[in-house]
Amino acid sequence: MSATPHGLAANHAAHPHTRFHVVLTSVIAALAGLLFGLDIGVISGALPFIAKQFHVGDQMQEWIVSSMMVGAAFGALGSGWMAKAIGRKPSLMIGAALFAGASALCSFAWSPEVLIGGRVLLGIAVGIASFTAPLYLSEIAPRTMRGALISLHQLMVTVGILAAFLSNTAFSGSGDWRWMLGVIAFPAVALLIGLLFLPRSPRWLMSKGRNEEAEKVLDRLRGDRKSVETEMREIADQLKVEFQGWGLFRSNSNFRRSVWLGVMLQVMQQLTGINVVMYYAPRIFGLAGYGSAHDQLWGTVIVGVVNVASTFIAIGLVDRWGRKPILYTGFSVMALALATLGAMLHVGITGGTSQIIAVAMLLIFIAGFAMSAGPMIWILCAEIQPIKGRDFGIAASTFVNWVANTIAGATFLTLLNTLGHAQTFWLYAVMNAAFILLTIWLVPETKGVSLEQIERKLMAGEPLRRIGQ
Ligand code: BGC
Repeated sequence: MSATPHGLAANHAAHPHTRFHVVLTSVIAALAGLLFGLDIGVISGALPFIAKQFHVGDQMQEWIVSSMMVGAAFGALGSGWMAKAIGRKPSLMIGAALFAGASALCSFAWSPEVLIGGRVLLGIAVGIASFTAPLYLSEIAPRTMRGALISLHQLMVTVGILAAFLSNTAFSGSGDWRWMLGVIAFPAVALLIGLLFLPRSPRWLMSKGRNEEAEKVLDRLRGDRKSVETEMREIADQLKVEFQGWGLFRSNSNFRRSVWLGVMLQVMQQLTGINVVMYYAPRIFGLAGYGSAHDQLWGTVIVGVVNVASTFIAIGLVDRWGRKPILYTGFSVMALALATLGAMLHVGITGGTSQIIAVAMLLIFIAGFAMSAGPMIWILCAEIQPIKGRDFGIAASTFVNWVANTIAGATFLTLLNTLGHAQTFWLYAVMNAAFILLTIWLVPETKGVSLEQIERKLMAGEPLRRIGQ
């Protein structure tokens, strides 16, 4: 153990064995992100075939798409309560089981209404997973690896999206939407089995007075006595706060600040415009002059690959550069790429070279997101909440992630039609530029700082941008 300038124990996972244990545990928990990603990616490919089989129009199709996000918003909200009452691990298990069951229901759906019902259930499962996995990861990770380990969750989200894009492309020949929607049950079952082997969150155990069990888990995850003792002391101190969750929100203005910060961060993430590309990539390739379904499907797969590959940049940099420099870089890249794409649409995309540049801008935008706001926002949201309000705070920000996701997805086509193509991309460019300012002004740098220290500064009333380092 080494002492930091703040006099706190540094939680290095000292022994290779301990490090392996932490990473393995985190990988399994992060697999929950796979479900999240599979679900975001799967519907764009399946929808045309579903529409054909059930003879449904635009409005019913919108319902089929958005029912999942509505379910996810409520799943996230409810899982705050569940993760507190029964614990993080059982919550993840319920999410995985529900996901498997709901995928099966969707694939056997005999009417559009049953499909919508199945997608609401699927959404609830995704909401549970998208809330609980980053929370659990932040609670078991040693702080020197926390950023990278929470990024694993985002990596799995991107792998899930790519896997869904690939499976869409594979099944598109036969048009078998039932298989497209059904195969995603298999990874959910695998996750359920993996989860059986995970330890419970030591912080949750202590919040239930089960200190001996918490100590055993920490012994395994930290591997050195002194770190374990320090961490347990710090958690115990924080648990002395009288109110929890909603009560804390009502009674404590400092906690309200961290909740609003989490909500703002998730709104920022969604208003970068990422899901506009995820849901409408084929359409955007169409705007860039790629008309054939074949080109558009493969273009979508390339988007998925760039999304996964660029997430590794974030994993490599997050605990070295810190969260804020990465966010500045990402928002700048995204703003520039979208502004250029808008300008090209304004002038008109004609001929091979301009088509290639337009697609390059789209991919640069994706890379900018995946190396920054994708993982960083989830990391920050899991880090900034005090322990007694962590479930409530993260549930609120995750809920808003899904609400903002739905709004961005549902307004894109309308924006294109009312504002115009170029103007829509410029609007998103301006928002990305504005997020640089918001980051400077309100976002803390949490690199290498213990969750306990972040909490102390938040509760002492320090300005938000200073509750980290
Ligand atoms: C976002 C999702 C998005 C995904 C793309 C996640 O961080 O929350 O809305 O679809 O990244 O990789």
